[in-house]
Amino acid sequence: MQSSNDFSQATAATASIPFADTPNTYGLASRVNHWLGAALVIFLLGIGLFFEDMPRGPEKLYWLKLHVAVGALALLPLAFRVVWRLFNRGPAALDQSIARQRVTRLVHVVLLAGIATLVITGPLAVWTGGRAIEVFGWFSIASPTGTMETLHQALEIVHVIAAKAMLIALLFHIIGAVYHVIAGKQRLSGRMFGRPGAEKINSKINRVSVIDS
Ligand code: HEM
Ligand code: HEM
Repeated sequence: MQSSNDFSQATAATASIPFADTPNTYGLASRVNHWLGAALVIFLLGIGLFFEDMPRGPEKLYWLKLHVAVGALALLPLAFRVVWRLFNRGPAALDQSIARQRVTRLVHVVLLAGIATLVITGPLAVWTGGRAIEVFGWFSIASPTGTMETLHQALEIVHVIAAKAMLIALLFHIIGAVYHVIAGKQRLSGRMFGRPGAEKINSKINRVSVIDS
């Protein structure tokens, strides 16, 4: 439930980007999380899809090592991103049909659940394969589990399925964002892009919920 205080904060947010989310816009923390996370995920997904069909050999090993090293560095920011979203619900749903709101929400949930699954299964797959996580020769994290072949294979399968689910959700997500821009509704997407005044778009929804509350 939103209070009138939330409303005044949200209206004030049109002047600058607030740190935390308001009912009308994503705050600075969510925006940094989103764009840093997006860059890391697209990079890791790209490398993974690139090497997945390669025959075993030095070239595949090179890309796998790069994937694991970048994945290990990305682990904390990505985990933080998911936890942040769990405790910060973000702005109100966009002013669009209930069906579209549901699809948008489903896509976001698949993306976040995908990140969580990938950052858990990735390192565990390396460790249960009996290997250490090597990060560019800077440091390595030895396997706390030792070799556990059956679990290793299961984790690899879950990792692959999560990556594919994320790829599909990501296509929907990016097409949706592009649609908003092409359809001249870029102010909606401005909740994440940071255009000045973008936050005003939801003021109608906001007023209704303030009156309702
Ligand atoms: C070029 C790539 C991308 C574009 C243009 C884009 C665009 C956007 C926009 C405009 C929003 C705000 C929607 C709203 O107003 O409610 C958003 C939210 C979101 N995006 Fe993306 N996005 C991209 C990549 C990604 C990637 C790679 C992921 C994760 C795998 C991701 C996950 C999310 C999630 C979970 C949200 C909901 C808010 C949050 O928790 O951050 N996006 N995106
Ligand atoms: C959001 C983050 C991540 C994404 C999008 C991602 C994506 C992928 C993809 C697409 C593949 C290829 C799957 C295939 O073989 O068909 C893959 C494989 C792999 N990833 Fe990730 N990954 C992520 C995070 C991680 C992390 C953090 C680690 C470990 C530190 C990791 C370790 C591995 C390993 C060991 C494989 C090879 C599995 C196999 O041989 O099938 N990944 N990943």
